[in-house]
Amino acid sequence: MNRNLGVLISGRGSNLQAIMRAIADGRLDARIAVVISNRAEAAGLQRAREAGIETLCLSHRSCATREEYDGRLVEALRARDIGLVCLAGFMRLLGPTFIEAFPNAILNIHPSLLPAFPGLDAQHQAWQHGVKVSGATVHLVNCDLDAGPIILQAAVPVLNTDTPDTLAARILVEEHRLYPEAIRLVLDGGWEIVGRRFVRRAAV
Ligand code: GAR
Repeated sequence: MNRNLGVLISGRGSNLQAIMRAIADGRLDARIAVVISNRAEAAGLQRAREAGIETLCLSHRSCATREEYDGRLVEALRARDIGLVCLAGFMRLLGPTFIEAFPNAILNIHPSLLPAFPGLDAQHQAWQHGVKVSGATVHLVNCDLDAGPIILQAAVPVLNTDTPDTLAARILVEEHRLYPEAIRLVLDGGWEIVGRRFVRRAAV
């Protein structure tokens, strides 16, 4: 698989940073070719610039429709020969125009054990529901929200003393470990989608 990554963010960019660190440490053989944000004030843009990575801000406000916005994103990523798109806190829904342009080549990280608590504020949803275990999921992106084939998950306990913020911080530690590992698995190949399962073929 083409190892050029396009990372899409909307905010802080700590998962972006974890991917950058894994590449710098030699744990992940890949290159971040571009970081794109839909928000100019996203702190992650600065992190990328400091590391000498090209950044782009594409605001959805400049487009009349989701399709037009998705088309502009696709154009920017194709122009940079991106093989794998990594959503890292990118808080925009992507439509069929985008999903079909990168079949089985878009990853997302989500702060819950999917299929529990999809959508916004997953850590708060889990805390409020009262589950005793939550966690993080990296999955392939399809047209249904937070519902594509699961690549890796990590569980964390929910403590009686937790607030949504302390739970989110515990989950984030696992996110930073999980995302580079999931990217590595996908780039290394030797997997297939069976039904809705991501299945790695046994090594021979
Ligand atoms: C992360 O917790 C990520 O899992 C979550 O946004 C945060 C981004 O943090 N993503 C979602 O909720 C997607 N539905 P970061 O900008 O520091 O990586």
